[in-house]
Amino acid sequence: MILPVYLYGHPVLRKEAEDVPADYPNISQLIANMFETMYNADGIGLAAPQIGLSIKLLVIDADGVSKDHKECKDFKRVMINPEILEESDDDVTLEEGCLSVPGIHENVSRPTWVRIAYEDENRVRREETFQGFNARVVLHEYDHLAGEIFVDYISPIRKQLNKRKLSNISKGIAKCSYKTKIAGGR
Ligand code: NI
Repeated sequence: MILPVYLYGHPVLRKEAEDVPADYPNISQLIANMFETMYNADGIGLAAPQIGLSIKLLVIDADGVSKDHKECKDFKRVMINPEILEESDDDVTLEEGCLSVPGIHENVSRPTWVRIAYEDENRVRREETFQGFNARVVLHEYDHLAGEIFVDYISPIRKQLNKRKLSNISKGIAKCSYKTKIAGGR
């Protein structure tokens, strides 16, 4: 089932997400719905707060950008209760976008690698290190679980230049090809 994507300005995107308890009901259906919602919107990652659920769950399938970033080939993950263990000191700057911020693409500086612990879709605990664009995707989605959005990190001048666009997104009048939801329920 395709779910509405909550847009910039909705308070759920600013909340610190809660741990997912071991007995969380129907999590496999929820995961399937998140993938379907993400693919429908041509996204490569989606965090639960973006569908209005303030829980530590994210899905990634970045294979679609593997032409530009070969490390993304077959890069598909489900992460439950992820926790960053370590990240690189050196950063790299690349352009990002977000399904909750349609129509805005801006440069963001991020660590070049990250080591993260998480539970997979079978609730098996894993530890993995991700490099390059994979690290960026993981960090972007992880930020959503802490109530952070990539536009928080852009320069003040870029933020000023995007002010009207961000305002339009939060009012639900920005152009968007998928089902969305804004603060106030529309
Ligand atoms: Ni995002």
